[in-house]
Amino acid sequence: MGGLLDGEALERSSVVANCVMNRERGLSGSNGYGRELGIDVLEFLRGRVREGRRVRWLDLCCGSGRALFEASHRIGDAVEIVGMDLVGFFAGPSRPPGLRLITASVVDWVPEGLFDLVTCVHGLHYVGDRLGVLSRAASWLADDGLFVGNFDVDGVRLADGAPAGRRLVSALRASGLDYDARRRRVSCRGRREVTLPYRYLGSDDRAGPNYTGQSAVNSHYVHEP
Ligand SMILES: C[S@@+](CC[C@H](N)C(=O)[O-])C[C@H]1O[C@@H](n2cnc3c(N)ncnc32)[C@H](O)[C@@H]1O
Repeated sequence: MGGLLDGEALERSSVVANCVMNRERGLSGSNGYGRELGIDVLEFLRGRVREGRRVRWLDLCCGSGRALFEASHRIGDAVEIVGMDLVGFFAGPSRPPGLRLITASVVDWVPEGLFDLVTCVHGLHYVGDRLGVLSRAASWLADDGLFVGNFDVDGVRLADGAPAGRRLVSALRASGLDYDARRRRVSCRGRREVTLPYRYLGSDDRAGPNYTGQSAVNSHYVHEP
């Protein structure tokens, strides 16, 4: 399939770098992180703080970071919170001491250390090599850490444009990831080395709206068992 975008072209595309997508989700409420991820983020973090450990949360594609500000204000610096996004359009001006916000692309950025919780709320729909990001995120977890993110299998296509479909879902599950097809969520419990049998080809920013109703990006791969 011709006309696929490489990483740099994709990151300049108006589908990815625009000011209309929702970068402002809070922690709770009908459109908040809790509902999108299916976990109560604060409770998860507080549970780990109660165990007396040093707790870390990494949010990929964090947008303005609103949910992270909220969490940091409510939980204090007992939890180190790191947010990263391609567009440094972070809420401000002052940051709580436990919160760090980084402008970078999730496809090549590497964090320091491991995390109790890694999240990605409606970010993967705009990422080129999103299967690569799933593998990377799973490798950043503490032994009993949790990764959870919104993931639409339909946004992963083969070279001819056909959906990667069930075979991809089987490959995700075989590699230790969990995919909830109804809620379109992917998760991983505990650090894992995830190798998926797919080679990234490039992305299509003309895919149109996905299940969220917003224009999204399709990522194309070759299946290489
Ligand atoms: C729909 S917004 C969601 C933002 C935030 N998670 C929220 O729910 O409020 C998707 C975010 O993904 C970011 N994004 C897209 N491609 C990215 C990449 N390659 N690396 C990091 N962030 C990316 C966009 O800049 C945008 O802020």
